[in-house]
Amino acid sequence: MTHQPSADAVVVGGGVIGLGIAWRAALAGMAVTVVDDAPGRGASWAAAGMLAPVTEVHYGERPLLQLNLAAAARWPGFAAELEEASGQPVGYRPGGTLAVARDADDNAALEDLYQFQLRCGLEVERLRSRECRQLEPGLAPSIRGGVLASGDHQVDNRALVEALLAACSRAGVRMVPGRVAELAVTGDRVTGVVLAGTGHGGEDAGPGPAPSRPAGEALAAGTVVLAAGCWSGGIGGLAAEALPPVRPVKGQLLYLRGPADQPLCQGNVRGLEVYVVPRGDGRVVVGATVEEQGFDTRVTAGAVHELLRAALELLPDVAELELTETVVGLRPGSPDNAPMLGPTGPEGLVVATGHYRNGILLTPVTADAIAELLATGKVPEMIAPFGPARFAGVPAGSGRRVS
Ligand code: FAD
Ligand code: GLY
Repeated sequence: MTHQPSADAVVVGGGVIGLGIAWRAALAGMAVTVVDDAPGRGASWAAAGMLAPVTEVHYGERPLLQLNLAAAARWPGFAAELEEASGQPVGYRPGGTLAVARDADDNAALEDLYQFQLRCGLEVERLRSRECRQLEPGLAPSIRGGVLASGDHQVDNRALVEALLAACSRAGVRMVPGRVAELAVTGDRVTGVVLAGTGHGGEDAGPGPAPSRPAGEALAAGTVVLAAGCWSGGIGGLAAEALPPVRPVKGQLLYLRGPADQPLCQGNVRGLEVYVVPRGDGRVVVGATVEEQGFDTRVTAGAVHELLRAALELLPDVAELELTETVVGLRPGSPDNAPMLGPTGPEGLVVATGHYRNGILLTPVTADAIAELLATGKVPEMIAPFGPARFAGVPAGSGRRVS
């Protein structure tokens, strides 16, 4: 069905991960095609855009922390390059993140986290209640204390998506508005992809309208990069074990709006149950739930209630803001919460998914590392610990935690 490769690489999925890889690979001189019928409208659109390796650090995830820190260090340069290449702003804002405690229990948990952050060598500062309120006057007087991570920033993830699309277009990336049904396999090699026909293929077939392409159309490629987020485990053509064990982790999130000249807060503010991200133009993002609900994308009254309640406890002026949008996204979760990056299964297949809660943060390192892999055939050292082979034998679609 496939013929001589018309592309050096076909990227399955046009979220920030697929688009970032396509852009960087095209800049390196490769002929790149991205297949997606709703590019940028998956988890990448739903995200909060925090670039927060320090406040999102979790026990038992030290290798991931190193990758996250490397990604954060690349962000200023990456944002500047992308703005130049696309001619569009990405809303990178180095405002820091203040994690606060509402009560004594919160304060004990925050102290534990602070001690762990110190052991990890991270730049954090313990603040008393008064110091927190000096930084963020809108905080509730009852706030007991906080931890400031000056290096945890944000980007406007929706502006990032639009900028990546523009940069891809300018760099000559071919965008194919369709869905991949299966990988084309010849002998022990992946040689391209086969597109789905009309019909959306069920609830786990990804966001966006049904494609209108004829069934079975094939695109040949030197390498296929599987970057379809939480849908990456559902592509046909290979045994389930050869696909990444990725699962959807539902996140509900809210957009609020207030006057741009009276910001709710200066930087990101988070409690144990909620985070608040001010965009600087009056928009405020409040997130997010973390739910194991499969491919369910319903907004629930309970989630909206809990997010608003938790945000109000930290920043009472939330009550004055307009609720403008409710959002649901499906994070691509992996068994150890770290991404799967690199060659897998037969020759000609590379995986870039499983970025879970940090895909926006990890866009620059993922894009550069996978583009380098495509150009040289060698796995860059930085992503070597994150090879998909670490989950050999874990079936696609499970993605369940192993620890
Ligand atoms: P996606 O953006 O989901 O893109 C996958 C793409 O693949 C989609 O466009 C889809 O249409 C396409 N696709 C699916 N199936 C097929 C197919 N068969 N053929 C072709 N295309 C297909 N990360 C951070 O770093 N900071 C944050 O603050 C943050 N907040 C978040 C808040 C929420 C509520 C959520 C849900 C996520 C958040 N994340 C955050 C995580 C981040 O959004 C994800 O890790 C990241 O967007 C994953 O990008 P992706 O490109 O892999 O997946
Ligand atoms: N990183 C924030 C979230 O996933 O909700």
